[in-house]
Amino acid sequence: MQPRFQLLRILSDGHFHSGETLGATLGMGRSAVWKHLKTLAEWDIVLHAVSGKGYRLAHPLELLDRDAILCFVTEEARALLPDLEIHHDIDSTNRYLTQKGRLGAPSGQVCLAERQQAGRGRRGRTWISPFGANIYLSVLWRFALSPESLSGLGLAVGVAVTRALQDAGMPDVELKWPNDILWQGRKLAGILLEMTGELSGSCSVVVGIGLNVRMPRQTVAMIDQPWVDMETALDAPVSRNEVAGRLLRHLALALRQFEADGLSAFHDEWMRLDAANGKPVTLQLHNDSITGVGRGIDASGALILDDNGVIRHFPYGEVSLRMVS
Ligand code: BTN
Repeated sequence: MQPRFQLLRILSDGHFHSGETLGATLGMGRSAVWKHLKTLAEWDIVLHAVSGKGYRLAHPLELLDRDAILCFVTEEARALLPDLEIHHDIDSTNRYLTQKGRLGAPSGQVCLAERQQAGRGRRGRTWISPFGANIYLSVLWRFALSPESLSGLGLAVGVAVTRALQDAGMPDVELKWPNDILWQGRKLAGILLEMTGELSGSCSVVVGIGLNVRMPRQTVAMIDQPWVDMETALDAPVSRNEVAGRLLRHLALALRQFEADGLSAFHDEWMRLDAANGKPVTLQLHNDSITGVGRGIDASGALILDDNGVIRHFPYGEVSLRMVS
């Protein structure tokens, strides 16, 4: 384990620790401790150094912990998730699992990270992923289904995320087609599906979820859309391990259910959570835009738009939707 991560583990309690004690625990001198502590700034971690007291983090950190996460994953869901990896610093959990999938990783392989250097968002955007603050989670799933039959999968995953949030004490979240999770019109979480077809006609999917839990204020300027994090919405501290565990539980069960029953098992719940139902929206097409009223989704997951009395269906992937405020 990197010394800076060992130091962080000790400091995560938010209390003061002297350079001497830290050095004794890690088997190094005080100046080496300071050298490693300075590198925490690369992870946007703010440290308070007070002479006579030592060092402490500006905010206590709850580091991801496998056992603490698995406390919130039921036996039934655990059986679907054979392996769970936690990385401190990775480029992208989705990229990592896509690669691992090619090398034969099993269905249900999970990857979580404390930080992503190149987190991927939809439409080629970057997903801002500061250390220890939010949840960056990917699951590899192998479907015995053709890629075409997976068109509504992102919608089912959106429903699974809202179920997990409800269990974690956040009932009033909504979904914005195709797969944004909103709280009071602001983005709380996003979903990125990356698929690889196989010669057999089956298909592997990496389901990636980015959920804002406590976005550090120094990172905020980098985000280019209205957003919110769980701690702001709830005005209370949130356990990342609990939320990650609840997400994994609902995700595993939803992926299994989607494989058996398709989108029909999630359709009505999605409609109840639809932020745009009956509201004015603008659809951005390639070179054009249309304004109308949202009317939910059809059985395939396509968006239904009321365009001045003409009902039109827009398949997943062709357009992006904006709420008209
Ligand atoms: C979006 O743009 O709304 C989708 C964001 C998805 C971000 C998550 S974070 C975990 C996983 N790894 C990635 O690189 N991206 C997804």
